[in-house]
Amino acid sequence: MTQKSPIPLVDLATQSRNIRDEVLRRMSDVIDAGRYILGQEVGEFEEIFAKYCQVPYAIGVANGTDALHLALRAIEIGPGDEVITVGNSFAATAFAIAYTGAEAVFVDIDPVTYNIDATLIEQAITPKTKAIIPVHLYGQPAPMREIMDIAKRHGLYVVEDCAQSHGAEIDGQRCGSFGDFGCFSFYPGKNLGAFGDGGAIVTKNPGLAERVQLLRNYGQRVKNRHDLLGYNCRLDTLQACVLLTKMQYIEQWTEERRRVAQWYAEELAGLDLALPQESSGYRHVYHLYVVRHPERDLLLKHLSDQGIYGGIHYPNPLFRAAPFLGSVTVPFELPICSQFANEILSLPMYPEMTREQVARVAEGIRSFVSMETVKQ
Ligand SMILES: Cc1ncc(COP(=O)(O)O)c(C=O)c1O
Repeated sequence: MTQKSPIPLVDLATQSRNIRDEVLRRMSDVIDAGRYILGQEVGEFEEIFAKYCQVPYAIGVANGTDALHLALRAIEIGPGDEVITVGNSFAATAFAIAYTGAEAVFVDIDPVTYNIDATLIEQAITPKTKAIIPVHLYGQPAPMREIMDIAKRHGLYVVEDCAQSHGAEIDGQRCGSFGDFGCFSFYPGKNLGAFGDGGAIVTKNPGLAERVQLLRNYGQRVKNRHDLLGYNCRLDTLQACVLLTKMQYIEQWTEERRRVAQWYAEELAGLDLALPQESSGYRHVYHLYVVRHPERDLLLKHLSDQGIYGGIHYPNPLFRAAPFLGSVTVPFELPICSQFANEILSLPMYPEMTREQVARVAEGIRSFVSMETVKQ
């Protein structure tokens, strides 16, 4: 790699090149057999993915947003209900709540983990609250033990947004296996990404699994018998071919992401820059490597001038998004979310990143950020 070659935020092409032949072999079987909708590859993937998530059931759906939406439909969330979630996430987390007619209630984040602050959840609970959607943001698990405790005490459902947390764990327990549902996205840039859209819902509950299975396929148990108002939200068989192939490498890629994070931590130590903190007993899977600096926009520009491309996840707190203005957000301002939205910066992160690339990103940052303490 020359000094001048750009470093992207994510590099999907390299990974895809490495598995291309295997994916094409699987896809050509599907094409030859003509099994395009709910072909056997979908079922095979569901079985493997459920095991990976340490639960008995996985249901492939069309994308992560549908996963959240169908999970909420399966537990009959609707108008008049409130669902608690976090102020910093991708819009889909809150949109899924809004699609059902329920109100999204936003809670602030913990300033160290950037995940939902569990100590603020109870004050957001009202008689209308039906569920909590914690998000394992950037790949770090949300505090699930605390959240499950609160949910049990108040009789609430828990729908985990696992779109960024494939394989993340707390004390060996996988994200998606704590709550009533775990909702995954296989958007191409995710840790497990399809060659297009895809998603899955995982659950331990056979009754809920069956409801989701019906909901994703027009409510049909048998063809043309519609037992409930379902949707067309099926995981595509061709995408299942990609996911089945990638499942063989997901653990290796996750460890490579963790190694890149370790390199960043070494290279960036001592700089006046807030780095990600992995909570004790937690397995962070580094979907994103997010740092924080008060001059974020200038730093982002400084890096892009050197061919290093960062991102912002996310620049606008959800409670300020147009569809939620006037929602029942408690409290009305979320100070940490608001402050951090202006300071967070996602650095390039993908399993194939080399130590040299990480060093070059760090050098770019070092030339911008003043040294606070000299690295020993
Ligand atoms: C936290 C979070 N929730 C939900 C989604 C929605 O997933 P999808 O894009 O597959 O609909 C995403 C990703 O896009 C996400 O990052």
